[in-house]
Amino acid sequence: MCGITAYCGQQEALSFLMQGLSKLEYRGYDSAGITTLENNQLLTIKCKGRLKNLEEKIKNYQVHGSIGIGHTRWATHGIPSNLNSHPHNNSHDTISLVHNGIIENYRQLKKELIENGYTFQSDTDSEVIVQLLDYYYDGELLEATQKVLKRIEGSYALCIISTLEPDKIIVAKKDSPLIIGKATNAYVVASDIPALLEYTKDVYFLDDLEVAMIKKDHISFYNQQGKRIEKTLTTVPYDLEAAKKDGYDTFMLKEIHEQPYVINETLRGRIFNEQIILDELKDINFQQFNKVYFVACGTAYHASLCGSQVLQRVTQLPVISMVASEFRYNDPLIDQHTLAIFVSQSGETADTLAALKLAKQKQATTIAIANVLGSTISRDSDYVLYTCAGPEIAVASTKAYTTQLVLLILLAYYIAQRLNKEVDFQLIHQLNSIPQYVEKILKDEKIFEKYAYMLKDLHDAYFIGRNLDYASVLEGALKLKEVSYVHADAYVAGELKHGPIALIEEGSVVIAVATQPHIAAKTISNIQETIARGAHVILFTTHNENIKHVENIYYLPQIAPTLQAILVAIPLQLIAYYTACIKGCDVDKPRNLAKSVTVE
Ligand code: AGP
Ligand code: GLU
Repeated sequence: MCGITAYCGQQEALSFLMQGLSKLEYRGYDSAGITTLENNQLLTIKCKGRLKNLEEKIKNYQVHGSIGIGHTRWATHGIPSNLNSHPHNNSHDTISLVHNGIIENYRQLKKELIENGYTFQSDTDSEVIVQLLDYYYDGELLEATQKVLKRIEGSYALCIISTLEPDKIIVAKKDSPLIIGKATNAYVVASDIPALLEYTKDVYFLDDLEVAMIKKDHISFYNQQGKRIEKTLTTVPYDLEAAKKDGYDTFMLKEIHEQPYVINETLRGRIFNEQIILDELKDINFQQFNKVYFVACGTAYHASLCGSQVLQRVTQLPVISMVASEFRYNDPLIDQHTLAIFVSQSGETADTLAALKLAKQKQATTIAIANVLGSTISRDSDYVLYTCAGPEIAVASTKAYTTQLVLLILLAYYIAQRLNKEVDFQLIHQLNSIPQYVEKILKDEKIFEKYAYMLKDLHDAYFIGRNLDYASVLEGALKLKEVSYVHADAYVAGELKHGPIALIEEGSVVIAVATQPHIAAKTISNIQETIARGAHVILFTTHNENIKHVENIYYLPQIAPTLQAILVAIPLQLIAYYTACIKGCDVDKPRNLAKSVTVE
């Protein structure tokens, strides 16, 4: 969640801080602020609301400092307000900090500090950090920070500046992302790579519990014990253009249209002579596993649900899919014979990361399917496969989802291959044609826009499907509710009669997916049951027998049923997108949501 920026260099800090924060807007936030340091004084400007409110406020000040920190806050402790916005300063206005994450023991620390005469301005957990820094400061900001880090529990990305040592920024992280870039005559810091790209592609990845001391022309790193360590500079291959809208009205629409390309990128080099090549996993002995866990959140979980069914089918290994927030607290049955697969676009989702740590403690072999290069989940897992979706800016995941599906299907067949199971070459061959099919479906955009008009005035919508189609409708319903705020639920079609059908009445809309030949006819019977009770149906199918009274049928291309989840995702995304547009919703930044959910 939230975004952090910091600048230490020869130029004025303000322009980097603000452009960086705007690049991080996609992560979700409710307030913003900056502190710069000039003439041995801190200048802190912050306010509730969008970055443009902050920009307006900044116009009333002269902001020239060449050291500064910036923040977009996604409130966890204390309501979004001017006072709770970051940066937070100590009462003498000598130390200022921005924090991303949650300090779990802040109540106890706050009590202790109040007993020592400290007073608090805000209701945030973060403010205890700056007061503690004040408490421990004894002539060395680095040393004070190291003492504070020993006292705080929870997650943090921190940037600290001080008039007491006006030549530096101290940064630290644990379980929250933070990246340091080396630009020309400056060091720049941000929560994510897009915020740095205009300035540099050369970055240092800070690991958990490490601290960096940044000066205009020098940087030093320290481990948890306070010992100097060396870190290597990595050049990231991202292109800033990729992070812009390319003429589309919204990032979501742009990202939906990028799918043929990014699916192709994800497939690139991974199929050769009817063999799947995933060299990243060549050292794994797959014979050692007796079960496989898939763990993820939200959209990534829906991709996992589909991938796990495919894996079970082709390898005959028992497979369990779990939402990460449940997995981590349910004492999963894991040992050294378990393969655990973690799927995450951002690679920073706190629940997924915690689940990964748990699986590693229990000696599972871990594979991450991630999109963001160098993200924490990708670095912490034993093996990593990257989806090649490029930066996904819209909060609602689209291209990350379909590339996850592609990679999970590749992975399932790769494991089958490694276990010497029979592999369906026709399907592997068809995978290469997926980008063309997606392209073709995108051309029918107007049809899906028309469907959106059926949903725009509804309070509720119903999605049904069976088997692999159930994972697809779960994702379709999630997409609709997150961007258009139409309440949508997805049901296994066979479960309708056990309860949900009570909700169907004249005018209800049911979106059904029936692409799995062995079960499509059953779903189509369930559709009839809803039509009999007054529902209007939108059906996505490859099946064309005995379909009566369905007003809207969209026929998907006749390719292997296992691959249909990738194709049907496109119309479901576009229906959600257009419903949101017709209703005037902020499609790229839906209310209450954050792109990267780095809190529990
Ligand atoms: C997707 O549209 C969502 N906004 C959300 O469910 C997301 O998929 C989830 O938070 C997981 O994120 P991750 O893939 O970055 O781990
Ligand atoms: N927990 C802090 C707060 O509520 C930081 C939240 C964030 O990461 O934006 O202020």
